Amino acid sequence: MLAFLIILAANAVATNQDWHPAVDPALLRQIRQDSPAGLMSVSNGAPVTYCEVNSTLNKPLIRNSFLMDHVTSMDRERTCVRTVHGQGSGAFGFFKVTHDLSHICKASFLKEIGKKTPVAARFSSGIAEKGGSELSREIRGFALKFYTDEGIFDIPGIVTPMFVVKNPLYFVEFIHAIRKNPALYLADPMKLWDFVIKYPEAMHTFLLMFADRGIPLSFANMPCYNVHSLQVENEAGEVHFIRFHIEPFEGIKHLTTAEAQKINAADLDYYTRELYNRIKKGDYPRWNVSVQIVSEEDVQKHGGLMFDVTRVLPKCDFPLHLLGEIVLNRNPTNHFAEIEQLAFCPANLVNGILGAPDKVYEARRFAYADAQLYRLGPNVQKIPVNCPLHVPTEYSESPGEPVSYESTNKRGLLKIKEEEPYNYDQAAELYENELTGDERTRLHENLILAISPASEFVRERVIEILEMIHPDLAYQVAKGLTSTMAE
Ligand code: HEM
Ligand SMILES: *[C@@H]1O[C@H](CO)[C@@H](O)[C@H](O)[C@H]1NC(C)=O
Ligand SMILES: *[C@@H]1O[C@H](CO)[C@@H](O)[C@H](O)[C@H]1NC(C)=O
Repeated sequence: MLAFLIILAANAVATNQDWHPAVDPALLRQIRQDSPAGLMSVSNGAPVTYCEVNSTLNKPLIRNSFLMDHVTSMDRERTCVRTVHGQGSGAFGFFKVTHDLSHICKASFLKEIGKKTPVAARFSSGIAEKGGSELSREIRGFALKFYTDEGIFDIPGIVTPMFVVKNPLYFVEFIHAIRKNPALYLADPMKLWDFVIKYPEAMHTFLLMFADRGIPLSFANMPCYNVHSLQVENEAGEVHFIRFHIEPFEGIKHLTTAEAQKINAADLDYYTRELYNRIKKGDYPRWNVSVQIVSEEDVQKHGGLMFDVTRVLPKCDFPLHLLGEIVLNRNPTNHFAEIEQLAFCPANLVNGILGAPDKVYEARRFAYADAQLYRLGPNVQKIPVNCPLHVPTEYSESPGEPVSYESTNKRGLLKIKEEEPYNYDQAAELYENELTGDERTRLHENLILAISPASEFVRERVIEILEMIHPDLAYQVAKGLTSTMAE
């Protein structure tokens, strides 16, 4: 009897309507909601008997719609992986305003104290491949999507407050330098040093990566920096620039290389598991959202330095202004639908935030959208997790009435003149004043470990760069290398 049990769809709901549900989305939603859960069907919705479902052996494949449906959808169920930051996981929650910023920026989600905006967050390895270990030393990504009531605002940020290069052309070279060697498909850490020798400005970021920042204790201990100074305006049209700093309540904390190796032996997915379990338990991770504020006068005084992504804005001159907090309180229920298909783009901006004037930003505006057209297809913004919450309707309210053109006379992005990067002063400052004594020692050890396999020529060039940053840094690393070589 069971073999012929056919569960009929709840189509009865539809039949007594004169309107076909396909042309009435609200009705269609209603019917779907009322459909019995667990109904087995082929993809056109036709119900299937248990018998059909489990007897494949004696039936020609082409006439077995259930099997065909299953196999063809599996054949296509993976979309192409992100070209960088491929490995990652995420969660959902909200941003809550605690301090008003409307005198600087008119973006609606920053306005009223207490206002909540839904957010999606994705934590990623920069270069580690999907399915591999999460625990390698990396410049990790921490991307945020704000579903504001005036559209989507994205911050695809990283864990260092500065970036590797200021010329976007070198980004491609950088990515190729940290990927596996294309000939052998083996990790080739020496390519990184070839890159550093060519672009020594990268060493500012790598100092932090080889100190503790490269391996976080957990995702909940990771900060997120936007690195760009975004041009914003208030209701009066006055312009400022803001740099986002999003820092964990529990502090920025790390694992040492040895601790990470030990955990790695037991659990390759350590960070994802930790985040998932923590949220499941109700122990929600939180971050403070602050900005550094740069005025037009500051720009006149300091010029391009205010926009150089390889540099930080010194906190003594540009203190942090707290705006609010982010709480992540929901795990994804479907990793593919909600995390894999998430698409962050620096060009997703809202009223009041105009973007950043630097060239890396300009290149990123294009690159992410381009990558997503390839990775997720032309409907990327319509995928539920990327979809804006509110679609404004005010433009469709005057049927037939032509609206005369009025220039809104919007100010464009500031034009800046960029110069060759120079950041040794800040790298020295980081080494001397910001790293603690213990962290400096771990930096030396990690650098020695990473440089020792390089050729003598490369080692010498790297030491020259370290020398320009700080004589003690060069001395300690050179000393360590000599004793490693002597063994
Ligand atoms: C010229 C410079 C850069 C280029 C061309 C570039 C390009 C890209 C591309 C094509 C993706 C994949 C997008 C996707 O498939 O969804 C990506 C992902 C990402 N990038 Fe960049 N990037 C650059 C610099 C940066 C900087 C400066 C940061 C951080 C401050 C950053 C953070 C990220 C993050 C976090 C992701 C992963 C987003 C996610 O979780 O889905 N990138 N980048
Ligand atoms: C497959 O269907 C037959 C009825 O044709 C039933 O007796 C059998 O238990 C089913 N097997 C499974 C694994 O469901
Ligand atoms: C976050 O902000 C609160 C004030 O609301 C402050 O007490 C705390 O120290 C901040 N934490 C971090 C990590 O900045």
